Amino acid sequence: MFTVKTSAGATKAELYRELNAQLGGLLAGERDGLANAANAAALLWQGLPDLNWAGFYFLRGGELVLGPFQGKVACVRIKLGRGVCGTAAQQRETIVVLDVEKFPGHIACDHASRSEVVVPLVQEGKLIGVLDLDSPSLARFDQADAVGLAATAEIFLKGSDLSRLAD
Ligand code: SME
Repeated sequence: MFTVKTSAGATKAELYRELNAQLGGLLAGERDGLANAANAAALLWQGLPDLNWAGFYFLRGGELVLGPFQGKVACVRIKLGRGVCGTAAQQRETIVVLDVEKFPGHIACDHASRSEVVVPLVQEGKLIGVLDLDSPSLARFDQADAVGLAATAEIFLKGSDLSRLAD
């Protein structure tokens, strides 16, 4: 049984160090991309406070298609350049949105979402999809989350075979 450890009072950097070490352990010896994405989403959901959604979209047939996640049911398909996810994917840059109502074109899957961070997934120069986290609190995410989640994405990408999830 894999237990998610959370430390009260830890800084975000410490929290991500711990979570990312746990992710490394969780993915060790398993390269199935679907299983690894599902466990990564669950780990983030359990380990990070104040989220209402955490999960993946994968690039399939030229658009982002919903992957493993935790939270409420979500939009299934997002075109490149649309919403926060499609913009981060197209620009291949992490986007931190402090107030989703101020992001033009934000796609409201859950009206409770107030802030969001999206990290593009790029494996060997190829866009694979995005990692998306939403929060019911304004300005929940900052640069420390962007850095911590970029490391999360790297561990996931290095440890997973994604050939059947993205094309
Ligand atoms: N808000 C996202 C859509 C995905 S959901 O938040 C899960 C966006 O604007 O791309």
